[in-house]
Amino acid sequence: MERITRAADRVHRPAGPWTPTVHRLLGHLHEQGFVAAPEPIELGHTLETVSFVPGVAGEYPWTEDIASEAALVTSARLLRHYHDAAATFPLDETRDVWSQSVRIPVETVVHGDFAPYNCVYDGIQAVGIIDFDTAHPGPRVWDVASAVYRFAPFTTGQVEGSTAPTLDERLSRAAEFCDAYGLDQDSRARLAPTMVSSIVALVTTLESEAAAGNPKFVSDLQHGHADLYRADVAYLEDHLDVIARAVA
Ligand SMILES: Nc1ncnc2c1ncn2[C@@H]1O[C@H](COP(=O)(O)OP(=O)(O)OP(=O)(O)O)[C@@H](O)[C@H]1O
Ligand SMILES: [Mg+2]
Repeated sequence: MERITRAADRVHRPAGPWTPTVHRLLGHLHEQGFVAAPEPIELGHTLETVSFVPGVAGEYPWTEDIASEAALVTSARLLRHYHDAAATFPLDETRDVWSQSVRIPVETVVHGDFAPYNCVYDGIQAVGIIDFDTAHPGPRVWDVASAVYRFAPFTTGQVEGSTAPTLDERLSRAAEFCDAYGLDQDSRARLAPTMVSSIVALVTTLESEAAAGNPKFVSDLQHGHADLYRADVAYLEDHLDVIARAVA
């Protein structure tokens, strides 16, 4: 059986200990009028049911639409609206369970994996956000940094389906993402090192989950994802200054 199945306007996904908290978050977003996230529908022991968010997920290889400047800008605006709606989520340390550790300073509930593959698009417009399994309290720049890494993109891997952007193009897309989000100056100054920290955290999760036998992460490891992320960390470390200047 597929891990994730769709039936009409509903999606069934594996549930974890954090799913009740994530459902409360999704409910809060809808109460705030943020309807671009799935609606929580049902929670079982092993499966959750949420609403299908209409659109096309920005999976690899990117189409021309997903690679467009408009997709980048609308995704950044969507992240901003999501963060603003999530910022009023009533945190409750005694009850909340998140899949990731809380990261300070807590400014909102970050998505934890904001990337084209977790957004849905109507043509060149980002219209939805999915896959909230990695959501957790944290600073806005945590999401913006990992999003810039994915959207610029700052990967050393092959960019399937399109020509790899030049460094100048990546830098200008990074700046454009920050502008469209409306990122403040302090967060901009933290963006480049936060990008590195977020990839290091990703490798740690990937390796510990794979070691624990989680099939999705075992497969990611077998496909060389950890090695690619390590190469990307080295690339980013070599370009920290130039990235910091581009997004300042
Ligand atoms: N609520 C939703 N609305 C629309 N599409 C969804 C929804 N949930 C999942 N999908 C579809 O299923 C795919 C995988 O779902 P999701 O991103 O939630 O899981 P994942 O754990 O990242 O799995 P995978 O590694 O297979 O992407 C998405 O790319 C999207 O096409
Ligand atoms: Mg996903």
